[in-house]
Amino acid sequence: MKAVEYAQCGGPEVLALVTRPDPACGPGMVLVANEAVSVNPVDAKIRAGLYPGMPKRLPAGTGRDGAGVIQAVGAGVDPGRIGRRVCYLAQRGAPSWAERVVLPAEHAEDVPDGLGPAEAASLPLAGVSAWAGLVEAGGLAAGERVLIHAAAGGVGGLAVQIARALGATVWAVCSSPNADHVSALGADHLILRDRQAFEAACDGMDLVFDLVGGETRARSRKVLRPSGRLVGLNALPFGTEHARADITERMAEVQPGTGALRAVLDLVAAGRVRPDIGAVLPFSAYAEAHRRIETGRTRGKIVLTLPG
Ligand SMILES: NC(=O)c1ccc[n+]([C@@H]2O[C@H](COP(=O)([O-])OP(=O)(O)OC[C@H]3O[C@@H](n4cnc5c(N)ncnc54)[C@H](OP(=O)(O)O)[C@@H]3O)[C@@H](O)[C@H]2O)c1
Repeated sequence: MKAVEYAQCGGPEVLALVTRPDPACGPGMVLVANEAVSVNPVDAKIRAGLYPGMPKRLPAGTGRDGAGVIQAVGAGVDPGRIGRRVCYLAQRGAPSWAERVVLPAEHAEDVPDGLGPAEAASLPLAGVSAWAGLVEAGGLAAGERVLIHAAAGGVGGLAVQIARALGATVWAVCSSPNADHVSALGADHLILRDRQAFEAACDGMDLVFDLVGGETRARSRKVLRPSGRLVGLNALPFGTEHARADITERMAEVQPGTGALRAVLDLVAAGRVRPDIGAVLPFSAYAEAHRRIETGRTRGKIVLTLPG
């Protein structure tokens, strides 16, 4: 089968299409023929050698999620699942950018009717991240006020919709060119970060979901109410500026098998959340996908479709 790998860390040009044996489908596992995969900022960071401890060895594959059809099941898995359309978040270090992948059966979630492969592949890592931040780490409840940074990005675009679906009031931060897009996602209040400091536009927040880190994280402490929660997902190192003893700070834990992907897919099936796709490229554009995501300026998700 074809897979995208790199033999050394570096720019997107280190990525190459290689031929590998099909993965073996062991007990408790399913073999998925990918129809689409997505690119995530972490893929480019790992490929560039910027992620501590990753990749563990070279050559390495890339990608964390995808969507496709179950082709085979291992011992102990219901054979009735063969032929089902699924999407998945792969375990850390288990690359998804290949024609076929093997994963634990419980990590492959049935795709809601009416959702195409590209749409399904756009949801796993970004959706699980949004759910992990808002719900699992953030404890967001109906009626609360939440500030979401980088609302035009892959995670932010889903986070805005999930927060609204949970009954929260959403302040969303983006730059002016993305204003209409984020507004259409359902944000109650837009804060255009190229026009005003977000601290000037909101306060008394119950929750801040910080997808940026660094000084954004430090400044976010200022807009929380007493006992408010600050949840980070990321990324840039952050310091203790504006530290407060009367708020709690946590990092979201993004991993498969928590029920988060099912929860997001159920919201999609119910029409409460829609996939947010900025570009669909053929699989052969794998290096271009990495190039685009590492600009940090893409809108929604970039998806690659197979074959292609
Ligand atoms: N820990 C984890 O497991 C995990 C999981 C998922 C994601 N992450 C991290 O979370 C971050 C967000 O992920 P993502 O997939 O949503 O990224 P993304 O799709 O690349 O986000 C792009 C958006 O971020 C906004 N942005 C860029 N630079 C910014 C800045 N300095 N300040 C504020 N906004 C900025 C831009 O919108 P505007 O120009 O409109 O603001 C852009 O549209 C990434 O760093 C990613 O690595 C971590």
